[in-house]
Amino acid sequence: MSHILVIHGPNIDLLGMRERAIYGKASLSRLNELIRERAKDLGVQVRISQSNHEGDIVSLIGKSKDWADAIIVNPAAYTHTSVAIRDAILAVQIPTIEVHLSNVYERETFRHRSLTAGVCVGLIVGFGSQSYLLALEAAVNIIKEHRKNEAGKPAS
Ligand code: DQA
Repeated sequence: MSHILVIHGPNIDLLGMRERAIYGKASLSRLNELIRERAKDLGVQVRISQSNHEGDIVSLIGKSKDWADAIIVNPAAYTHTSVAIRDAILAVQIPTIEVHLSNVYERETFRHRSLTAGVCVGLIVGFGSQSYLLALEAAVNIIKEHRKNEAGKPAS
C-alpha cells in the first residue's frame, strides 16, 4: 500500500476562523476528514500533521524517509521564506507536491515567490480543500509511475 504524508504549515490550524473570504469556512478537522475519505477511496494510507514551527516541519520531512512514498505539503507562510524546508525536501528525495488553498498569484506580490516549489514535482494552488484532494490523486499516479520505472530498471 502507498503511504502519503500530508503536512500543513503555520496558521492552517486556524482554518474556518481566519480570513474566511480567502480560505473558506471549513475547519482543519473537516479538511483532514476530506483528505482521509479520498485516501480511503484511492486505497492509500495517509499521515497528516500540522505545525506552526519551521523546524518541526523540517524534522517531519526529514523523518518521512522510512515511511512516505510521497509528500503533500502546504508550507503556508514558510513557502515564501524557508530555505530550510526547501533543503529538507531536496534531502529526502521523496516526490513532493506543494499545495495552497488560495490562488497565491492573485494576492500580494510577496506570495508570488515560492522557495519550495522549485524542488517539488508540481504545484496545485487556488482550489481550496480540493487542492489537497487533487494532490492526492497526483501523488498516487506519481508513486505508480515511480514503481513502474523502478521495476523496469536492470538489477544492479
Ligand atoms: C497559503 C498561502 C500562503 O501565502 C499563506 O501564508 C498561508 C496559506 C494557502 O494555502 O493559500 O498561510 O499557503
